Amino acid sequence: FVVILDFGSQYTQLIARRVRESGVYCEIHRFDVPIAELRRLAPRALILSGGPASVYGDNAPRCSREVLELGVPTLGICYGLQLMAYHLGGKVERAHTGGEYGPATVRVERPTGIFSRFAEGDAIDVWMSHGDRLTAMPEGFVSLGTTTGSPLCAVARERDKLYGLQFHPEVVHTPRGKEILQSFLFDVAGLSPTWTPASFVEEAIAAVREKAGPSDRVILGLSGGVDSSVAAVLCQRALGDRLTCIFVDNGLLREGEAESVERTFRGHFHMNLDAVDASARFLEGLRGVVDPEQKRKVIGRLFIEVFEEEAKRVQGAKWLVQGTLYPDVIESVSFKGPSAVIKSHHNVGGLPERMNLGLIEPLRELFKDEVRAAGEALGMPRDILYRQPFPGPGLAVRCLGEVTPEKLRVLREADAIFDQEIRAAGLYESLWQSFCVLLPVRSVGVMGDERTYDEAIALRAVHSTDGMTADWARLPYDLIARVSSRIINEVRGVNRVVLDVSSKPPSTIEWE
Ligand code: XMP
Repeated sequence: FVVILDFGSQYTQLIARRVRESGVYCEIHRFDVPIAELRRLAPRALILSGGPASVYGDNAPRCSREVLELGVPTLGICYGLQLMAYHLGGKVERAHTGGEYGPATVRVERPTGIFSRFAEGDAIDVWMSHGDRLTAMPEGFVSLGTTTGSPLCAVARERDKLYGLQFHPEVVHTPRGKEILQSFLFDVAGLSPTWTPASFVEEAIAAVREKAGPSDRVILGLSGGVDSSVAAVLCQRALGDRLTCIFVDNGLLREGEAESVERTFRGHFHMNLDAVDASARFLEGLRGVVDPEQKRKVIGRLFIEVFEEEAKRVQGAKWLVQGTLYPDVIESVSFKGPSAVIKSHHNVGGLPERMNLGLIEPLRELFKDEVRAAGEALGMPRDILYRQPFPGPGLAVRCLGEVTPEKLRVLREADAIFDQEIRAAGLYESLWQSFCVLLPVRSVGVMGDERTYDEAIALRAVHSTDGMTADWARLPYDLIARVSSRIINEVRGVNRVVLDVSSKPPSTIEWE
């Protein structure tokens, strides 16, 4: 497998995705992972990521020189290349032009090693993003290609299988970057593409069995979202009836959601499902609560209480399954400080310790797209695997102001209409999220000959790749018109529909 050393590049995860898409398992480690640990990991190849620092800087993240002497094929990308030069006696300087950001064309000089899939003289479109650049190669290195801005942008010392690129092969703006990475993985490092959905499902099942032993009981909090659903099916394959899934209906779910979870997991997958209707308790707890953060806290606290009560009823439970994904794992080991908390997210943090349960995280090594692929390998329906994200506090954060049963009814009915129309238009999977928000205002309307003074619904639909940034979706006007007229005509109590045209930042996706 491959180890990627992270020097703080915004693209490190992307490198990992590209390697795995090529069928090779890889892990991201901090740049300062001890050399003994690296030896123990025994990777077949190393990739040094880019990073924002300057290699000669005082606080620059630097791995030790020994990393380059392990005899492992190594590819340095951008800062990674500059660090190779730093350790091996090359020279790095601030580009006098103030750096190079954007497209460039590399002319291939030597079609060998990482360039073995090209011919001499080929032009490769690449993406540059660097302030410093290599101005003298270390001893024994040769140039494989050049651009006008960076004469030394692809270099190698082939006898030691050391390669360096100034540009970023991992980004989409380097269209043939994947071939370069694959040449490194397959031709240089001699790896084979064996990391497939079927193989990682099999490994994950074996790991769960090993952890839980032959007789331990295991519990899992099922939300109906992609991650907990895949974790549930995978663990059931591993443990059968020793797995109990607890599904808490907090009364803040969308129309038909609780029924659908029961139908799918109890009916179709024959799971040991404990579905708890705690809606009355949540609504009671939310009575009079208006402040968004307060709502989130109340819901988080009640969820833990209810979950804990249910979990205690599972006699002899020793383990709790969590659907942690690889990006969360990387985030927690990353050396960049945690980004500021904008909204308190609700999850079951702290539960395993409190309940004295061990933790099983079968998806810990996977990216989201790999979780979906695993779900497909497990025979799960697309309808679950390609579901849009839904926040833990549910409709409570889309029902602005106090949450009441009547407001939830209005919001649920409107949301179901928007959802139906989005699906009918074939847009559901291309949108990150599409949902309704019930505004805390009333406005005047006229229906027939009567004046109305009713609620307003906002339509929110966004494109995003990770939820961190988002842009509002340009939905077709006729679709918006249909949704608006259906909501106003079919949902009692609504006389106005508005469209949210804000991007994130500075807005957020949810309204609370
Ligand atoms: P915001 O509103 O912060 O949301 O732009 C970003 C993404 O996170 C989802 N979200 C949550 N997910 N628990 C979750 O599991 C939460 O408490 C929560 N709050 C927001 C939101 O739907 C969007 O996809």
